[in-house]
Amino acid sequence: MTLARRAFIAGGAHTAYIGKGNPDFIWKGHKDFGSRENPDIEQTLQAAVDGAIADTGVNPADIDRLYIGNFVGELFVNQGHLGAALVGTNPAFENKPAARLEAACASGGLAMLAGLDAIAAGADLVLVAGVEIQTTASARAGGDFLARASHYRRQRGLDDFTFPALFARRIKAYTEAYGLSGEDLGRFAVKAYANANKNPLAHMRAAKVSLEQASATSDKNPNFLANAELSPYLRITDCSQVSDGASVLILASEAGMKKLGRSLSDSAEIVGTGHAVSSLYVDGDPTELSTVRAATSGAMASAGITVQDLNIAEVHDCFTIAELLTYEALGLAKKGDGAAVLRDGLTTLDGALPVNTGGGLVGFGHPVGATGVKQPLEIFRQMKGLAGDYQVKQPLRWGLTSNMGGDDKTVVSLTIRNVE
Ligand code: CAA
Repeated sequence: MTLARRAFIAGGAHTAYIGKGNPDFIWKGHKDFGSRENPDIEQTLQAAVDGAIADTGVNPADIDRLYIGNFVGELFVNQGHLGAALVGTNPAFENKPAARLEAACASGGLAMLAGLDAIAAGADLVLVAGVEIQTTASARAGGDFLARASHYRRQRGLDDFTFPALFARRIKAYTEAYGLSGEDLGRFAVKAYANANKNPLAHMRAAKVSLEQASATSDKNPNFLANAELSPYLRITDCSQVSDGASVLILASEAGMKKLGRSLSDSAEIVGTGHAVSSLYVDGDPTELSTVRAATSGAMASAGITVQDLNIAEVHDCFTIAELLTYEALGLAKKGDGAAVLRDGLTTLDGALPVNTGGGLVGFGHPVGATGVKQPLEIFRQMKGLAGDYQVKQPLRWGLTSNMGGDDKTVVSLTIRNVE
């Protein structure tokens, strides 16, 4: 959709995304075990909200509305009603309109759309947050919680790790249809970890993955599914992380940017949106992401651009195959040729269209409700030269996000223009 009123990203903040494999994450073997605990949902959300207020200089009293994306706080941390939790982060938010949005891993994307609707309806400053805490459960127990994003009655039995199994099914189907080598998918993991290694906030900032390691099954990189038919197709390095984290950004109308005392050239403008949802009860062709295609093509069409205009993208690599299939959904390659896009270097940090520059869901991490807010904030940070060691060198005019809930079920895509 085109937007009825111009909307700008004024700034924002991420917490570090942490979990198993991150040096700051407290677990049994950590030197701080027993003396310090990992931040809980309240501390995590507070830190990101405070960070966004500091980054934009917004007066909290001037915020007109607040939205928050979160998938299953009720299961991981026994906490729902997160609109009220968001209001609790600052006394100036008391009695302001706030709401929590849920669409599995696209919950953050929905919060962004709600924020844009609020701007269209007359709000000038909107705070959009995303948060998830997931490390309260083991990956196996969390696999059951996350399976609520599938059609639980029909799909939960696939494997304890339902979502890894659903995407292993896609790898299997794609391999049988087009062929896919270990290196083809391994390159996606290597890119994700290499970018994350440059990003101090990334879950996998300190974990190194070589192409040799990511391309083959080994003790360090096992096939871990119990489903014997699907297990050979998925290794641990193909998976996004079970992360804790929050991201918060401030959306502003033109009047809102004035209230912040900022010029439009300090911002990035969200120009088009795509929002596509397909039935939870029907599985599409496993070799393509048709809902991603519908949402991203809608977002580009509403901005009057094509994939050739894009200079940067943040896409939903919940598994390596998802990034490959998103390339094809975007039209960067024809069906069966998605691996060549990365093999040819187009989407690396120094390529013509860098994708997931801070590490994506595999490297930066995937606190599910935060991801759809993190993505546009990352595009903003790149456009404004704020990405530090993983800053893209070339000028950036157009960016795109693709945030996917479930197995290609709810997809939110935004097209973002650098205001120069
Ligand atoms: N050989 C055989 N099996 C092994 C093994 C080995 N050498 N090493 C580990 N395993 C198995 C074990 O069975 C282990 O399970 P237990 O802990 O119960 O023993 C399992 O693999 C996990 O191993 P680890 O505990 O060492 O790994 P981990 O805790 O680092 O988790 C992961 C790794 C399972 C891949 C986890 O990161 C994960 O589940 N990632 C995916 C998260 C996910 O699905 N997110 C949602 C994405 S989908 C989306 O975005 C859309 C939506 O709406 C949901």
